[in-house]
Amino acid sequence: MARKLNRWDLLKKKQKGEKVVWITSYDFITAQLAEECGIDMILVGDSLGMCVYGYPGTLPVTMEQCIYHSEAVRRGAPNTFVIGDMPFGSYQTSVRDAVINAVRFHKEAAVDAVKLEGGKTVTGIVRAISQSGMLCMGHIGLTPQSSGVLGGFKAQGLTAESAEAVIEDARALHDAGAFSILVEAVPPEVTQIIKDELPIPIYSIGAGMHADGQLMIVSDLVGQFQAFTPKFVKKYGNVAGEIRNAISAYIKDVGESKFPADEHCYHMFAGELEKLRAKFRK
Ligand code: KIV
Repeated sequence: MARKLNRWDLLKKKQKGEKVVWITSYDFITAQLAEECGIDMILVGDSLGMCVYGYPGTLPVTMEQCIYHSEAVRRGAPNTFVIGDMPFGSYQTSVRDAVINAVRFHKEAAVDAVKLEGGKTVTGIVRAISQSGMLCMGHIGLTPQSSGVLGGFKAQGLTAESAEAVIEDARALHDAGAFSILVEAVPPEVTQIIKDELPIPIYSIGAGMHADGQLMIVSDLVGQFQAFTPKFVKKYGNVAGEIRNAISAYIKDVGESKFPADEHCYHMFAGELEKLRAKFRK
């Protein structure tokens, strides 16, 4: 089994041009399978709001939910670099709240790092978390927790001015001590500028092929999430189809008395059935 990566391994990978591959996960079994497959990192994303709880977005997600799912993921993937995603309201209220909640992730769920959304506006928070001895990843471009302000789940950096703002956000996060940055839904050329300029790893979700690594939401990747499919998603499976097929076949089998069959039943020890029958015949 491969050793768990640390920040220096991630940095070395960037320097050597080796891509880091990571996914989100919210539960024990998926985390276990991902570790078995050799995934580099796992994000316990607040996307669990949509992928697990059926909320329309990430805003209702609480610290309790994030900790609960991070604990399960950590149990499933003890040798993988796990990142806890700070939910809306867990860091915007004050620097103190941000540090307290980042500490909770580490103490209660044994994560290796936390991630939070925003650029220039969150540098004080990133600095405080980093100076408290924890690894903090930035998240810029399309930041779902601010989708109201952005006017929806929209790609960013499509004009030179907007691209420059994303690049400035990346610089500010680096200067504040972020150990890496996730860029979401921006053109590849913008990501490349950031990746070439900054010495820390720059990862992409929908931000093109030039990044130091790629993140995918596991429910998209395996073809489980049905509500919508962003442009940047490639489905590598059809889990929703598999689940539908299995449940439909089960309904049909029970209706036609084909399930359970004898092989699915427990049988009494030799001679015991006769004793029981004799008693009930009386
Ligand atoms: O919560 C999450 O999964 C994320 C991704 C959208 C990047 O933050």
